Amino acid sequence: MARRTWERPNIVVFTNLNMKELSISHLLGIKDLTKSDIDLIFKTADSFKEVINRPIKKVPTLRDITIANLFFENSTRTKLSFELAEKRLSADIVNFTAANSSLKKGETLVDTANNILSMKVDILVMRHPHSGAAKFLAEKTNTVIVNAGDGTHEHPTQALLDCYSIKEKLGEVRGKKVVLIGDIKHSRVALSNIFALQKLGAKVMVCGPTTLIPKYIKDLGVEVSHDMEKALKWCDVANVLRIQLERQDIQYFPSIREYAQQFQVNKEILKNIKKPVTILHPGPINRGVEITSEIADSDNSIILNQVENGVAVRMAIIYLLAGSINRS
Ligand code: CP
Repeated sequence: MARRTWERPNIVVFTNLNMKELSISHLLGIKDLTKSDIDLIFKTADSFKEVINRPIKKVPTLRDITIANLFFENSTRTKLSFELAEKRLSADIVNFTAANSSLKKGETLVDTANNILSMKVDILVMRHPHSGAAKFLAEKTNTVIVNAGDGTHEHPTQALLDCYSIKEKLGEVRGKKVVLIGDIKHSRVALSNIFALQKLGAKVMVCGPTTLIPKYIKDLGVEVSHDMEKALKWCDVANVLRIQLERQDIQYFPSIREYAQQFQVNKEILKNIKKPVTILHPGPINRGVEITSEIADSDNSIILNQVENGVAVRMAIIYLLAGSINRS
């Protein structure tokens, strides 16, 4: 049967944006994106942010598109944010959670995906505990894949919403100094942020215990510090990461209490910095461990703006990738 390409309605039905195309047909990682791709995603997200702040937060743009959200790992923000983004675009959606699925009976990832695709699904959004799972599925299936976080590899939509939120708060990302604090070794958010921030012209530092900073990280062109006060004095923005105990095979520091003593972002350490630092956290927050409630909920924190922007950024990504849908 002849293949036909789904024709994306022009966003111009509700904005005056002149649409271009992404250089990619899947979103597997920030590494694959160009600066122009990121600029296009941000410009499109600006339009969708305006939409989701209207009394009627919905546009008919993707009403003949069906999206399956495959979550093989727990999620609150990313799962709900994708679902809302898809619903705001009027796509039909189905949700798959590994725990109640036939994976338990031995079905493979590829069989699972191909069975879902047989039900005329156009896009798969997937979170998976294994690094490379999104790329693997993109190679083994004939559909558009959006990586919602794969193991310790990448979390591209998180990095895009982080950079979008920095731009919104500080006017631009270029030239800004951003420190990623904490468990860099097990963090897909860290790797995606490093790629995105560098593509947008920011300077990046990572700060944490030696055991949680991989040796290869310097090859990515980032600065490394193990001194929180020095790192916070250097930066304009601190993106505070959670200790990923669920991914740690051995103990990387003596105790949570000792980790917090050295690497917690709190009022005392920020008082010594004597300048405002914009605070981000991808969530979920372990209050009282990597950050205190006082700082997480302070005026310099844009943690909830990140979550709000996540919906607009994911709407933009799905809308733009829908242009790559092939229907046979
Ligand atoms: N930031 C993030 O990925 O959060 P969830 O695990 O709740 O989706």
